[in-house]
Amino acid sequence: MLEVRDLTKRFRSTTVVDRVNFVVRAGEITGYLGPNGSGKSTTVKMMTGLLHPTEGQILFLGQNLRHGSTSFKQRLGYVPEEPNLYGYLTGLEYLQLAGGLRGLPEKHVDERANQLLELLSLRDSRWAPISAYSKGMKQRVLIAAALLHDPDLLIFDEAQSGLDIANALLFRHLLHALAARGKAVLYISHVLEFVEKVCEHIIVIYKGRIVADDSVGGLRKLMQLPNLEEIFAQLVHQGDMESRARDIAELISKRP
Ligand SMILES: Nc1ncnc2c1ncn2[C@@H]1O[C@H](COP(=O)(O)OP(=O)(O)OP(=O)(O)O)[C@@H](O)[C@H]1O
Ligand SMILES: [Mg+2]
Repeated sequence: MLEVRDLTKRFRSTTVVDRVNFVVRAGEITGYLGPNGSGKSTTVKMMTGLLHPTEGQILFLGQNLRHGSTSFKQRLGYVPEEPNLYGYLTGLEYLQLAGGLRGLPEKHVDERANQLLELLSLRDSRWAPISAYSKGMKQRVLIAAALLHDPDLLIFDEAQSGLDIANALLFRHLLHALAARGKAVLYISHVLEFVEKVCEHIIVIYKGRIVADDSVGGLRKLMQLPNLEEIFAQLVHQGDMESRARDIAELISKRP
């Protein structure tokens, strides 16, 4: 459904996404992993039109995407890493705004928004301003907004962060249900256990470059390692975190 070709982003002379190639297929949940600062959010910001690529192409259903294409945006649901929620709006108003901006009929938006809020356990808070919502509640409003227009492609940038156990489980099942209905899902997360359970396809980016692109099973076989955590540690050279943690604890307890 979506393909990126040699996608590159440079900020001044620093290349943060370096000739990245991958595909996101319909009916599949693709995990996009990498350490902090490796270029994940920058990649998806280019895919969603928030950032201009320095080089490379983004193709949606084989068509080269031009920045700001409205028909693409109508088929995209995106939960960004740093949400811009308007705190003075209520959850329901926010969804009404999101639906209106996508050109959906008012009556349909009202109905769908109320149903989604109910299913995401936000019904009782729908009249309260978002500024009074907890982190997990805000996250659920964003998930609802990403789903409101029944998009074909969903991009979740750490969308499960802040969700409690029950809501994280709901979210996990939701990803499967969406993929089963033929949606393409790109899912960024640092929770490897979650990714291992949810994603059939995994892409790992490290320092702006793709270092792995395979199924979890394929990566296990290829690298002869039992789980994603060890595969990830091998791919991204994380170093000895236990000794670094000791160094920090020792450092702060040193007498001046
Ligand atoms: N607007 C910007 N100007 C300059 N550098 C930027 C900008 N946005 C991102 N970067 C740099 O690009 C690199 C990749 O950032 P990005 O946000 O894509 O990382 P990430 O993989 O999403 O990390 P995290 O796991 O922490 O969310 C970082 O070194 C960051 O400092
Ligand atoms: Mg990020």
